[in-house]
Amino acid sequence: MVKEKLFAKMSRKKIVAGNWKMNLIAQEAIALVEAIAQLKQNNTAVELMVFPPAIYLQALKHTSLKVGAQNFHPAEKGAFTGELSLNQLKDVGASIVLIGHSERRELFLESNSFLKEKVDAAFAHKMPIIFCCGEPLSIREAGTALEFVTLQLTESLFHLSPVQMVDVTIAYEPIWAIGTGKTATVEEAEAMHKGIRAAIEAHYQSSVIADSVSILYGGSCNATNAAELFACPNVDGGLIGGAALDAASFIAIANAF
Ligand code: 13P
Repeated sequence: MVKEKLFAKMSRKKIVAGNWKMNLIAQEAIALVEAIAQLKQNNTAVELMVFPPAIYLQALKHTSLKVGAQNFHPAEKGAFTGELSLNQLKDVGASIVLIGHSERRELFLESNSFLKEKVDAAFAHKMPIIFCCGEPLSIREAGTALEFVTLQLTESLFHLSPVQMVDVTIAYEPIWAIGTGKTATVEEAEAMHKGIRAAIEAHYQSSVIADSVSILYGGSCNATNAAELFACPNVDGGLIGGAALDAASFIAIANAF
């Protein structure tokens, strides 16, 4: 059993992703991608990807890194002022999308049911996703974090077929740890990741599906704490904010595997 679990952990994709949020201007974005690509060298153990502001996707189209979009609208096209469709994002080089980042949920009031529409639109476009989940501090303090996160998954993700589910990457980002310098402890992170995997197993009645989903941690993850977080059996990488804006620290995080 221990052997099987270890094999599952080894065979899951390891990912370190940089979410640049609303930072940098074009020149800085290009310089950062170039510096990361150069420093990355032959580290093939982990897949690196970056999520720049969407207006810079086109300029980063030819980088060797995987580049994705932080957000999109689920409609094909139409009267959605200021929004971008999946076709438009594909057109400028996005090959993966984030869905349900807590900043989208909290600041732009994106609900679980709206995020479900985004999940369906991404699958209709064969666009890989990183689905973000995570609880606010009040829920953590109330002791109901796993129930809260499980509901996010249930209402936005668990309608997917088993075949679709194995293609999903999940990012667990406790809201109280984002941009605060207060990272989850390894025990807190591992317990939640294990709980998420158990929820997938319970829903799909399959440990194979549960074991194949990569679950990333996000929230004040940096070059100093990445190694201990990534050593957790159920942590398969990181979704990095602040520390992803510096090539050396982003690469140091990737090299923590
Ligand atoms: P920080 O790494 O800045 O805490 O941000 C995490 C995050 O929100 C990544 O999506």
